[in-house]
Amino acid sequence: MQGIERIVILTGAGISAESGLGTFRDEGGLWAQHRIEDVATPDAFGRNPALVHEFYNARRRQAADAAPNAAHAALARLQADWSGELMLVTQNVDGLHEKAGADVIHMHGQLDSALCAACAYRWPAPLDMSVGEICPSCGAPKARPDIVWFGEMPYHVERILDALQACDLFAAVGTSGQVYPAAGFVEEARIAGARTVELNLRDSDMSYAFEYHITGPASETVPRWVDRVLAGG
Ligand code: APR
Repeated sequence: MQGIERIVILTGAGISAESGLGTFRDEGGLWAQHRIEDVATPDAFGRNPALVHEFYNARRRQAADAAPNAAHAALARLQADWSGELMLVTQNVDGLHEKAGADVIHMHGQLDSALCAACAYRWPAPLDMSVGEICPSCGAPKARPDIVWFGEMPYHVERILDALQACDLFAAVGTSGQVYPAAGFVEEARIAGARTVELNLRDSDMSYAFEYHITGPASETVPRWVDRVLAGG
């Protein structure tokens, strides 16, 4: 694709599936094992913080043991070799993009960060967080996972929208397009006149909005796509 200078890439759980981390809405996914209202809302945390910590402690341990796959590596290579601007945004809370060497914006928070619900101080999360954990800054027993729960405002949205409104190419990798505002990013990019490409195992809820589709497992499709983008294809 000629004339591409500014790229925005959004990733979802599908990019980490081949690293062994479960997705949310595929067969047997996380939301088939747990009710969102029990583990991923502020009310859930208020009602049963021990259950919420247990859910994220298990995912934190699994993510800590996981390795990035060829798709994470390819996006890190694109970020390093791309001569123009590139913003990599993830909905994922694992650290696999960082493990692959990429600089990434976590719009839904991250497992390896803890947040104080009283003073908003952040610090590296221990592998297991527990109820009543003390904030190292204000001393309140108000530590929580630094995860954006349903009903909360994702992080860095203004900055991401600014990049989308100026981009020439928007790519979504491994996301079902069911959760906003991320699901609406493709429309922002189209309004900006950007080319849009979806890389996924199958159609998503937003497939209709993408100009191009590359179907297959991310570990195969993303490296090939990155080669084409770097070759000016
Ligand atoms: N390669 C490419 N795509 C894949 C692969 C794979 N190996 N495996 C699964 N996928 C695709 C699925 O087809 C699906 O479209 O990844 C997507 C996973 O969708 P979800 O499980 O809904 O994950 P995601 O889109 O990241 O969810 C968005 O919802 O629950 C919230 O905060 C949570 O960040 C999450 C958000």
